[in-house]
Amino acid sequence: MGSVSLKIGDGTARFKSATVCSSAVHILMLFSVITTNLFALYAFTYSPKPNTHQIHFLDHHHTHKNLSLISEQVSLILKEIDSSQKKLSQMEKQLLGYESIDLSTPNIPNELKLFLQRNQLPLGKDSRTGITEMVSSVGHSCYKSIDFLANYMNYKPNGACPDDWSLGQKLILKGCEPLPRRRCFAKTIPKVGLHPFPVSLWRNVSEKIYSWSGLGCKNLGCLNSKKLDRDCAGCLDLGNGNEVSRFVKSRGKNDFLIDDVLSLGSGGVRIGFDIGGGSGTFAARMAEKNVTIVTASLNIDAPFNEFIAARGVFPLYLSLDHRFPFYDNVFDIIHVGNGLDIGGRPEKLEFLMFDIDRVIRAGGLFWLDNFLCSNEEKRKNLTRLIERFGYKKLKWVVGEKINGSGNSEVYLSAVLQKPSLKGFSIGTLDSFIVSEALRMSACKWFNR
Ligand SMILES: *[C@@H]1O[C@H](CO)[C@@H](O)[C@H](O)[C@H]1NC(C)=O
Ligand SMILES: *[C@@H]1O[C@H](CO)[C@@H](O)[C@H](O)[C@H]1NC(C)=O
Ligand SMILES: *[C@@H]1O[C@H](CO)[C@@H](O)[C@H](O)[C@H]1NC(C)=O
Ligand SMILES: *[C@@H]1O[C@H](CO)[C@@H](O)[C@H](O)[C@H]1NC(C)=O
Ligand SMILES: *[C@@H]1O[C@H](CO)[C@@H](O)[C@H](O)[C@H]1NC(C)=O
Repeated sequence: MGSVSLKIGDGTARFKSATVCSSAVHILMLFSVITTNLFALYAFTYSPKPNTHQIHFLDHHHTHKNLSLISEQVSLILKEIDSSQKKLSQMEKQLLGYESIDLSTPNIPNELKLFLQRNQLPLGKDSRTGITEMVSSVGHSCYKSIDFLANYMNYKPNGACPDDWSLGQKLILKGCEPLPRRRCFAKTIPKVGLHPFPVSLWRNVSEKIYSWSGLGCKNLGCLNSKKLDRDCAGCLDLGNGNEVSRFVKSRGKNDFLIDDVLSLGSGGVRIGFDIGGGSGTFAARMAEKNVTIVTASLNIDAPFNEFIAARGVFPLYLSLDHRFPFYDNVFDIIHVGNGLDIGGRPEKLEFLMFDIDRVIRAGGLFWLDNFLCSNEEKRKNLTRLIERFGYKKLKWVVGEKINGSGNSEVYLSAVLQKPSLKGFSIGTLDSFIVSEALRMSACKWFNR
């Protein structure tokens, strides 16, 4: 990180690529404004070379001629504005990397056209909401995967949906969210042998109730022998593996216990949100404490959503690029592990963190659970970002673990409390300098 961005403040660093983007647009905008103004100036100062005839015969016919000349100029100007605007939007599209879907192109399935069609409300304007038409939408990034999308939307309305949920998930992972398929019947899988709650939280059910199409593994044994992701090594094994002791037995100082964390919550912990929650074990353990948790998970390599639901807790099928479908300040607790490691540009993490902050209530808890600090820079960046939100550090632990190949890895676990009243100092130079000073040796400094 250069000293320049330090001096200017974090706003610059944060929106760097956006700035590059918008300055190009600004230059173009400036250019078009200048050209149109020049045209206008030209039009309104333009007068044909006075020749003696004209000076002497200023008649009605003449004024008329002047007017038509002006209107000719005006239409020229309008044309110029129009073409500048077109150029501008073309340039914007190039910078953003997408265009809106052109429904007139031949490879767009009819079903997609129907789905996206606007429908006027039959009784006119709705007096309460003020809307006049019903509008459906798909993610703008669908355009980038138009072939996938066309494939996905090629189904028979009123019939059975093709058994291709993994195609839908591919689209979601490419930012094509929400998916536009609505008018077919999803494959029904008989859910035989579900257990009553709360027995369901820890009891095995038949593997036949999960959908295995499109997955590499075709049973739980296969999945449990794999490390599906950092937070799920054998996490679908509710019998004997690690999963059973998670959150109730500590394997190291980075593992906080649910009872300890619940005792930190002021005003009670009743509802929460687990981001990237694997098999739903956090929700299950919280359910035992009468806390309701919604678990956001995709079905990457495993039928996580069905598994979570079979346990009797709430699965939410959602990518983390999606804005959370919750209102502001609603959750008492948010739990996230390596789901926070979304990679990509630093702004991406910011988008996620701001959305997390949005849905936690004042005084609510943010539990960062065994986050792998894969390198020093990532650790610094995350720490700096978290500190910008001004949360109170109730727990902050940096620990090392020896991994499978004998290397030591650094993990950060923290429980942070959202302040009741937030100063609007986020992003100002002062708070930035303070947090830089506080940060010092990042994770290690705050070891408690
Ligand atoms: C029309 O043109 C003449 C000479 O070019 C000019 O003197 C006059 O003001 C113009 N009339 C209008 C209405 O612009
Ligand atoms: C549940 O199934 C797993 C295999 O997926 C097995 O290891 C475990 O012992 C079973 N647990 C119970 C309680 O039957
Ligand atoms: C959860 O709620 C039930 C029913 O109200 C109650 O019997 C039980 O003691 C509660 N458990 C905890 C851990 O609070
Ligand atoms: C850390 O943040 C800086 C400045 O925002 C950025 O340039 C860099 O790519 C980030 N590094 C990582 C690993 O995210
Ligand atoms: C162990 O950590 C090292 C260094 O971070 C990494 O390169 C390696 O892939 C890790 N091995 C496993 C099995 O996670």
